[in-house]
Amino acid sequence: MSADHVPVLRDRVVAWLAPTAPGLVVDATVGLGGHAAALLEAVPGLRLIGLDRDPEAIERAHQRLQPYSDRVRLIQSAFAELPAVLHSLGCPPVVAILADLGCSSLQLDSAERGFSFSRSGPLDMRMSCSGPSAGDLVNGAAEEELVRVLREYGEERRARRVARAIVEARRQRPIGTTDELAHLVAGAVGGGSQRIHPATRTFQALRIAVNDELGQLERFLEPAVRALQPDGRIALISFHSLEDRIVKHSLRRLAGACVCPPEAPECRCNPEQLVEILTRRAERPAADEVATNPRARSARLRVARRLGAEA
Ligand SMILES: C[S@@+](CC[C@H](N)C(=O)[O-])C[C@H]1O[C@@H](n2cnc3c(N)ncnc32)[C@H](O)[C@@H]1O
Repeated sequence: MSADHVPVLRDRVVAWLAPTAPGLVVDATVGLGGHAAALLEAVPGLRLIGLDRDPEAIERAHQRLQPYSDRVRLIQSAFAELPAVLHSLGCPPVVAILADLGCSSLQLDSAERGFSFSRSGPLDMRMSCSGPSAGDLVNGAAEEELVRVLREYGEERRARRVARAIVEARRQRPIGTTDELAHLVAGAVGGGSQRIHPATRTFQALRIAVNDELGQLERFLEPAVRALQPDGRIALISFHSLEDRIVKHSLRRLAGACVCPPEAPECRCNPEQLVEILTRRAERPAADEVATNPRARSARLRVARRLGAEA
């Protein structure tokens, strides 16, 4: 979290995005400002708009990007609102967009933000610090809704068992803290031989639901691509298969692939080719990066180029 915190796949992001600059780059998830600082350092003429829905992240990025303050504008916003943000700035041409999805170490390491089952804190998990919290969901949602969230967003095979345990426990009193919930889930699914903590999937599911992470991503991608000027690039780093699937399929569709169901007699989706995909396979961090930053382990980077008049 300090100024020398190295963001995931930093050098690959710079290698892909720096050639598009100078010009205006949008860092849609500015977080602690690590990628932004690397880009600003690499390209002297580059200007950057940094978005983050987390007010604390904006504060931290502000401090970290102080040396480049004349080239940076930071805005607290969800990235699905990118078109409105750009509109409010007069729709400037954008040469590159980066989204490094998920949570920052600032969020994961702060017990009081409630993202981590290994730190005791309130059941919060709200990136934007506003709206319904994980506690509201856990204590207020119907059992069926909890099952759906755990299955869809956590890929939790024992969703029903976890949901039942939650509903049973909250009959006595509301579930208030991360460790209370982690303990409850461990009791419901058992610790056993699992490599990961038994509450990992439940916490992932709640976090995705509370922040509408997949909905945000789906609403962001096409408008982001459309905001790029010809030859501009978009780079997306995802951290789990649900995110990566959305990124992969959306880029494929935006690259002109037909996405009609296989049984459709003819193509009805009329694909429009807006991008060329530059990464045939997702790029992964090298072993030495994972050794120094275990959170990089599951990162996947995909990059596409906006086509212009030649498409
Ligand atoms: C992995 S961190 C980014 C770290 C950043 N690249 C760096 O170098 O420090 C992800 C950040 O994205 C933010 N974020 C996640 N979803 C968002 C969304 N839909 N809109 C805006 N910010 C979002 C989180 O609040 C978090 O600060």
